[in-house]
Amino acid sequence: MAPTTQLSSLPRHFLDIDALDAKTLRHIVDTTHAMKRAGKRVPEKMKPDGIDDAVLVTIFEKPSTRTRISFDVAMRQLGGQTLSLNHTDLQIGRGESIADTARVLSRYVDAILIRANAHSTLLELARHATVPVINGLTDRSHPCQVIADIVTFEERLGPIKGRLIAWVGDGNNVAASWMHAAVRFGFELRIACPDELAPKQEVIDWVAREKGAVSIGSDAAQAARGADCVVTDTWVSMGQTDAEWRKKILKPFAVDSQLMSQAASGAIFMHCLPAYRGHEVSADVIDGPQSVVFDEAENRLHAQKAILAWCLGAG
Ligand code: CP
Ligand code: NVA
Repeated sequence: MAPTTQLSSLPRHFLDIDALDAKTLRHIVDTTHAMKRAGKRVPEKMKPDGIDDAVLVTIFEKPSTRTRISFDVAMRQLGGQTLSLNHTDLQIGRGESIADTARVLSRYVDAILIRANAHSTLLELARHATVPVINGLTDRSHPCQVIADIVTFEERLGPIKGRLIAWVGDGNNVAASWMHAAVRFGFELRIACPDELAPKQEVIDWVAREKGAVSIGSDAAQAARGADCVVTDTWVSMGQTDAEWRKKILKPFAVDSQLMSQAASGAIFMHCLPAYRGHEVSADVIDGPQSVVFDEAENRLHAQKAILAWCLGAG
């Protein structure tokens, strides 16, 4: 028998926003707001059963500041413990299969967080794990980030349902999670990106099937016009080698004060960080009064507590 604190026989994986229903996602967002209000000392009633004996293993195939540290601190504040590893510390670095790794880790720990190069690694891990698996960013998506971002939006501007968000820049993994969220949380998303860096077709097709209010164009000002929030991300994601080409074709998608002036009055600026001032965003915007980037970073901690609590059976 695996020494697991899990209550259900089916693990509650947190793999992607499109993989969860709207009610579960709203529950996680509401729990995040509540975790923030509760502070460091999480009330017993908000903790999953058995958390005092629970261990989360975090595996990173790429660097991380926020995801690594916020999950570790979140687990401690819930009363559990974390084991944080780079993939080269494990035998997967020497070719042991993901499936066997998932089966073995499931005998030791209560949940697994992975930041993987390939989304297929996350799915393979989830397929073979008998404990919850959490997506800490892949080449497809970054769902933990967008949960924190929705919380950040709501604490500044109220419910996100029916509001207008502009994504300006690379149609990357974070953009994909925003697209998933637009459908599940019922807001409008306008994406402005170069044609060559449009979101993946499978995400576009999913949004279309779900009849989501997501448009994709290549005019940054048009996307930002009247938006409640303008979001961007780095032009060069981890592992990408075509940095110079990206910087060139993304230049018209830089977020500066002129672009922000197109947005609604009271609009906020978001960026998941790490940010590169003078590239995807000007210093006056990211360091200015409309920027909520450090609230987003803080809210990762509260969101991780909510995600862990849900994965481990609370609520
Ligand atoms: N935003 C984010 O996921 O940051 P890290 O890469 O530092 O984890
Ligand atoms: N799109 C970025 C996000 C970093 C948190 C990347 O994948 O590197």
